[in-house]
Amino acid sequence: MTKGYTVLGPEIVSDLHDPVRDFAYDALVGLSERPKRLSSKYFYDDAGSRYFQRIMSLEDYYPTACEREILTERAHEIISPMLGRGPFNLVDLGAGDGAKTKILLDALRAAKAEFTYVPIDISEGAMRTLVEAVRVEQPDTRVSGLVCEYVEGAHYLGRAFADRSNLVLFLGSNIGNFNRVQARAFLRRLWSSLRKGDCVLIGFDLKKDIEVLLRAYNDSEGVTAAFNLNLLTRMNRELGADFDVTKFRHYGTYSVFSGAMESYLVSLEPQVVRIDALEQSFSFDAWEPLHTEYSYKYLRADIDRMAADTGFSVIRQFEDSRGWFASSLWRVEIETKVPSPLK
Ligand SMILES: C[S@@+](CC[C@H](N)C(=O)[O-])C[C@H]1O[C@@H](n2cnc3c(N)ncnc32)[C@H](O)[C@@H]1O
Repeated sequence: MTKGYTVLGPEIVSDLHDPVRDFAYDALVGLSERPKRLSSKYFYDDAGSRYFQRIMSLEDYYPTACEREILTERAHEIISPMLGRGPFNLVDLGAGDGAKTKILLDALRAAKAEFTYVPIDISEGAMRTLVEAVRVEQPDTRVSGLVCEYVEGAHYLGRAFADRSNLVLFLGSNIGNFNRVQARAFLRRLWSSLRKGDCVLIGFDLKKDIEVLLRAYNDSEGVTAAFNLNLLTRMNRELGADFDVTKFRHYGTYSVFSGAMESYLVSLEPQVVRIDALEQSFSFDAWEPLHTEYSYKYLRADIDRMAADTGFSVIRQFEDSRGWFASSLWRVEIETKVPSPLK
């Protein structure tokens, strides 16, 4: 089952073959573009994962509290389609610290379900911490972690776990980092890796008062700013760059046109940055932005359309009491095993 994967421990394998090389390549492409950009997936080195844990505990950052409320109140309804069907995988795409997933793990254990927990995350540090926590807190839970990108995780499900049913979680509004085209492509890819009767629970952050959105991504304690700026520190450490972090500022804004919160690092003065791993320097003008994140927000109708466009049917949709966040439970209704060149 682990062929082609690097074994990181008894319960963790990795599909990241040369992560620093990939990072260097993406930095080269992204910093050569106008506007400059870098994918938000690079936020999550060990320090970034810790910053994100702090963000999730902030009053201003509402998505965590909203999703926790839904999972706590609706745990049984969420897991019930999987009960009585034999052993299955609880797959957690972009699992992070798994704090909210533990609500569902508890519900599954209380229901005496036979399952394997399969967290998938690009961050090796976050994965090691999560798997160790599950082992200590829930020693009777079977866990099989995979360090890789989402799309590789979908591929792994189709290949390594083809004989098991799946309940796939895509929590924390992770889907929002994809634009609509990318989200549709990824969900269709996921659909084709699953089997008839498999379910997916996706957390969608809903469109709401723009002031609430702006506060969430510009928190008063400055943790989101530190999280964003940590990307420069990571480039300094892993790529031998010489970014002066004090010469950039975090800027988070909402685009009504695209329906996304967008995060930037803005250069405060003209400067040249050297990246040794690329043997190249990059110049920034004063007030030139480096785009670092999209977080797309959804209307309820967008969610229905996304499910229909990607082959899923919506079984139930749960919202928190403020109507700010939706956890949408989808199912694969037909056999998906058509020949695919990507499998
Ligand atoms: C916003 S956090 C959400 C964590 C968790 N699901 C939650 O709801 O609390 C995103 C997580 O996804 C991981 N991640 C980000 N981009 C990824 C990618 N392209 N492939 C796999 N994991 C990714 C990060 O390392 C991080 O742990």
